[in-house]
Amino acid sequence: MTDSPYLRIQVEAVTLGMFIQELCGSWVNHPFWRAHFLLEDPEDLRRLKESSVREVLIDPRRGLSPPVLKQSDSKPEAPSQPCPAAHRNTAASSATRRSLEQEIESARQLCSKSKKVVMAMFQDARLGRAVEVEGARAMVNEIAVSVERHPTALISLARLKTADEYTYLHSVAVCALMISLARQLNLDEGLVREAGLAGLLHDIGKMCVPMSILNKPGRLDDAEFACVREHPSRGSDILREGRQVGALVLDVCLHHHEKLDGSGYPHGLAGEQISLFARMGAVCDIYDAITSDRPYKPGWDPAESLQRMSRWCGDHLDESVFQAFIHCLGIYPIGALVRLQSDRLAVVVDQSTELLLPVVKVFYSTRTKAALPVELLDLSKLKGRERIVSRESPDRWGFQNLEAFWCELNRRRGSLFDR
Ligand SMILES: [Fe+2]
Repeated sequence: MTDSPYLRIQVEAVTLGMFIQELCGSWVNHPFWRAHFLLEDPEDLRRLKESSVREVLIDPRRGLSPPVLKQSDSKPEAPSQPCPAAHRNTAASSATRRSLEQEIESARQLCSKSKKVVMAMFQDARLGRAVEVEGARAMVNEIAVSVERHPTALISLARLKTADEYTYLHSVAVCALMISLARQLNLDEGLVREAGLAGLLHDIGKMCVPMSILNKPGRLDDAEFACVREHPSRGSDILREGRQVGALVLDVCLHHHEKLDGSGYPHGLAGEQISLFARMGAVCDIYDAITSDRPYKPGWDPAESLQRMSRWCGDHLDESVFQAFIHCLGIYPIGALVRLQSDRLAVVVDQSTELLLPVVKVFYSTRTKAALPVELLDLSKLKGRERIVSRESPDRWGFQNLEAFWCELNRRRGSLFDR
């Protein structure tokens, strides 16, 4: 049982008079935005039930409770509506694969928890104290389980970070990416966890770089850039002194900025001098860095980022590691903007069993240049009828920030859910 005052119930059990605390799922999974409201309008109830939202949190202190909770009710009738999930034995459901919505909810909590662990470790490093790695190992295990349940939920979520939390959530994102990539490369589970730990710790040397340089909105001058370029060496020194990590983690920390053509740093290693794990670290590090908003530039769209990275293969990045990476994320990663054969724009919200046919959310007509009612399509089930014809740049359509656009779209519709 939980101490939370809220109840999680199925959408089918929602009635007028309930106070909706939260529509479960992230913005990519429902057409509404920030739901806290008393449900009074039958039209809103209809829209909620027709949406892709399957569960909501209600606050029984501010509105009606589901009938099953009315213990004092004199009528001994069995509830005609589904039992609230919060009151079920969850053992059976937890054993099954969760939906993306459910996974994103737990990934959100995991992200927040991981960020705190990374912040504490990095703070120790900044203050010159011994870094406690046991907490990081426990975090890697939790992240590994999340990635196993759903390979892209945590990765998609960790991509959406503010400039202030970049360094910490970047570590969490690279950890999840390294785990996913290591499994894609069929490495044994012990190495998978080591790769995850390497991802979590690879940038710990950034704590030796002044925050004013790390968060500088403009271009770095030569002295500042030289300072940043010291972070792999400083990080590996910190980890080596702590004596709590193995050679693999030290190698990734020291060499994740090396490039195949020898133009990287700190040692200018080339070709075979760069280990498999350092090559993996480079791919994961760059992907998360270029897809995230930074103080000096907004993040690129995930699919566009993969396309640009493909041009860096051979010179900077390892081609076969990069191909495995694409298989982890899908050719059209979650969050990518795509154009469909039917002249509609959609955002990729989940992968399917087929790399080229993800699950998308349609929201815009390229013919009328107007928003459309949001529609969820599993393209793997629509073969021959609908398909992706191109990846689209959000900038080209004026969607510099797709999440903000989504919010605006709901506001323009005058949704009561937007409160
Ligand atoms: Fe780095």
